[in-house]
Amino acid sequence: MERVKATKLSNNIKKLVGTIDIPGDKSISHRAVMFGSIASGKTIVRNFLTGEDCLSTIDCFRKMGVEIYQNDDYVEIEGKGFEKLNEPEAILNVGNSGTTTRLILGILAGTPFHSCLIGDDSIAKRPMNRVTNPLRDMGAKIDGRKDGGYTPLSIRGGNLTSINYQSPVASAQVKSAILLAGLNARGTTSVTEPSKSRDHTERMLQAFGCEVLEDGLTVSITGGQKLTGTEVVVPGDISSAAFFLVAGAITPNSTITLKNVGLNPTRTGIIDILQQMGARLTIENERIVNFEPVADLTISTSDLNGIEIGGNIIPRLIDEIPIIALLATQASGKTIIKDASELKVKETNRIETVVNELTKLGAIIEATDDGMIITGQKVPFTGATVDSYGDHRIGMMLAIASCLTEEQIILNNTDAIAVSYPNFFEHLTQLSNQ
Ligand code: S3P
Repeated sequence: MERVKATKLSNNIKKLVGTIDIPGDKSISHRAVMFGSIASGKTIVRNFLTGEDCLSTIDCFRKMGVEIYQNDDYVEIEGKGFEKLNEPEAILNVGNSGTTTRLILGILAGTPFHSCLIGDDSIAKRPMNRVTNPLRDMGAKIDGRKDGGYTPLSIRGGNLTSINYQSPVASAQVKSAILLAGLNARGTTSVTEPSKSRDHTERMLQAFGCEVLEDGLTVSITGGQKLTGTEVVVPGDISSAAFFLVAGAITPNSTITLKNVGLNPTRTGIIDILQQMGARLTIENERIVNFEPVADLTISTSDLNGIEIGGNIIPRLIDEIPIIALLATQASGKTIIKDASELKVKETNRIETVVNELTKLGAIIEATDDGMIITGQKVPFTGATVDSYGDHRIGMMLAIASCLTEEQIILNNTDAIAVSYPNFFEHLTQLSNQ
């Protein structure tokens, strides 16, 4: 997909006030479509995220013959069971979506037919051997560029045997791909991670009627289990909420309420960090929606202090590090982010893109091998032309940076933001006009 749009960001944001409903969680929306497509019976998905990534997932399953309908209120999936997936006539296009690529590989590993996967330029740079190697160990035949390490990939699955996999990285995409392949393997498949990654797959498989066992950092599943269609209500995405949590904390005279935010403990690292840095944050109306914890959050302009962020918290906030870096530019003292070399294999090398673009705005920030060091200073940013480089989270972080200056910031490749938050600018405008 060509991404060319350049946007003059507002240079007149004085405060952010109001209430917004956070759009559906990307990780959960992907899984709802995938699990509904391999289940028997109808699945209804409410508050589905209509970002480009999740639409890529829908498109891939339609190409395998699954009937999926969308209206303004919900997505309806006519699941006919895993066995009824068809060999796709066309290449499956995952667009910009790492989650689609890696999780669908786990499903395709169990299918007796041939399929091809391709994505955009960013996907072509992201390592797939972390998934293709263990799936090959289970018996799937996978080939592709650089010995199956990168897209385009071709897969002929079926006849899998279980494995006990020690993952070198804490990655929910790796864990989920192996568990999904394990559903179609002989015996019990287990995955052990170095620290716990998001557990939406484990929770949702149970909602679809499967048994998943957890023992410390090991998750296991026994092959041959069938999924039954169900209703999924997708909570708001904490990774999208993070942009407005930080915006509220760093913009003068602000108070923002974010409704319906998913607070799965494997995702709430950003809440812990905001609290440790001294943010004025309240959590209200805590409830369980479906099988995930949800609450409403209110944040106000805050005096922040720098901290050190590393270790087991990193997988719980990996997608929030670009916006945490912006937060740290407004804190007193140094913030050190470490143990985060996974940032190098996201939609962009996020150590490089965060440091380069924030430096253009006048921030004091340096890259390290596994993170970055930011020295906070309460001075307005300078105007500059910056770039998302096609990375939605870099684009949104830079758009929030515009709240910190009256000088003009121009953002190139703005349209990447539609990958995960199609109405991001509507929300920013709504909050700044109150
Ligand atoms: C995701 C897992 C994370 C995260 C990504 C979504 C998921 O990736 O960064 O945005 O839905 O499973 P890794 O599993 O590579 O850490």
